[in-house]
Amino acid sequence: MKNIRKITCIGAGYVGGPTMSVIAQKNLNVEVTVVDLNETRIAAWNDDDLSKLPVYEPGLDEVVKEARGRNLFFSTDVDKAIDEADMIFISVNTPTKTYGKGKGQAADLKYIELCARQIAAVAKSDKIVVEKSTLPVRTAEALKSILDNTGNGVNFHILSNPEFLAEGTAVTDLHNPDRVLIGGEDADAIEALVSVYEAWVPRERILTTNLWSSELSKLVANAFLAQRVSSINAISELCEVTGANVDEVSRAIGQDSRIGSKFLKASVGFGGSCFQKDILNLVYIARTYNLHAVADYWEQVILLNDHQKTRFAENIIKTMYNTVNGKSIAFLGWAFKKDTNDTRESAAIYVADHLLAEEANVIVYDPKVPAEQIYKDLDYLGTRSPEDNRRLVKVVNDPYEALSGAHAAAVLTEWDEFKGYDWAKIKEDMKRPSFVFDGRKLLDRKQLLELGFAYYAIGE
Ligand code: UDX
Ligand code: ADP
Repeated sequence: MKNIRKITCIGAGYVGGPTMSVIAQKNLNVEVTVVDLNETRIAAWNDDDLSKLPVYEPGLDEVVKEARGRNLFFSTDVDKAIDEADMIFISVNTPTKTYGKGKGQAADLKYIELCARQIAAVAKSDKIVVEKSTLPVRTAEALKSILDNTGNGVNFHILSNPEFLAEGTAVTDLHNPDRVLIGGEDADAIEALVSVYEAWVPRERILTTNLWSSELSKLVANAFLAQRVSSINAISELCEVTGANVDEVSRAIGQDSRIGSKFLKASVGFGGSCFQKDILNLVYIARTYNLHAVADYWEQVILLNDHQKTRFAENIIKTMYNTVNGKSIAFLGWAFKKDTNDTRESAAIYVADHLLAEEANVIVYDPKVPAEQIYKDLDYLGTRSPEDNRRLVKVVNDPYEALSGAHAAAVLTEWDEFKGYDWAKIKEDMKRPSFVFDGRKLLDRKQLLELGFAYYAIGE
């Protein structure tokens, strides 16, 4: 078995950064280098001030502090890191295509291909290449072909090792994973990667499969998780009209051990970089094989999620006497879930867009997301000019400032701190009637009603 001394990871994002930090933390004898083309990002990973790390994850600063400079390095010298590595993780972004065939559905593999070509051009010794990014099934085949056809005659072994960490809990998920999945064909290469994880993960939790099963399992895991959220969100709408309470329904069905209690929290809709992208990808693959019933089935998970976001925005408008023009709506939260600064596909973006189309004034407070990111997310939609986004949207650093004088508050992210606010004071400073639209069922309904708020929560 090949002894792994040096690992390189291409891509220092939400997956590559935390994963490599933990691999380095747990493998003192392995030197881990994370490289990225983005100089600002690498500089932030190297910043002495650990609060400036580019990815906010509880506990990550401690891991980086322990390993950085010892056997964990962040660099922009991609070629050098490729040349020296025994094992190379590819952890670059694979966004949904925005052009050409498969636009809006297929994964854009241009960053993966560029990586493969660069590895092939630089490598002078045998390498194990590990797909960490989530990829369509059979991407390994394309990778292998590029590596073998453009390489310098050295041997490449490809492994698929999808990452199952969730943002906001990345460090605990990495420290204590339900399972680690490794797909591959070459037994020695598989064993080499198993040995890296065995440094802290019990052997029985490390599953090995063939390449295609591993690639597909990642898409399927995300599709199943997203499906649960859409399923409970569909029920939330039914609860609202029938007088049932979706939390009570979740609890009642979740106690059935066959169903399980996790991932049954009704919300304004799922976001994040994975769920929508991976389902679109699954749908695209199914259509490619003419499996239209399969594709339609999974597509519905996304359609329901879109419906949930729209429905939340429309309910705000309808409740506020069918007009929000010129009214101030304070958004509590912009990130796609709590404990992350990531906003990719966050429901907040789409809810805001809907309200802005009605000329509402949106004031955003999020504990971790900076103003530039919020404007970037809105500008990216292309639904109105950047000037209009800045005219209608204000971002503040103080939640009380966001809520003071507002006609309504909308909870978009389930940050814990929102629960502890002085809602009595907020009530005094808001316009009347004081509406609260809780997209996360986070706040205390009884308390808010007693204070005189008009309180509406998803699924009640
Ligand atoms: C997900 C998978 O969980 C992870 O295994 C994979 O590696 C990447 O994709 P992530 O997107 O980081 O992780 O977060 P997750 O906790 O899965 O939440 C995704 C979205 O679903 C969030 O917007 C969250 O708020 C929402 N959600 C989740 C609900 O609305 N209700 C729930 O019960 C659970
Ligand atoms: P993820 O959530 O999958 O980690 P991110 O977008 O957070 O995705 O991170 C992917 C990172 O990969 C980005 O920082 C990007 O600059 C980097 N990247 C993309 N292509 C390359 C490449 N060819 N070489 C080095 N880094 C790359």
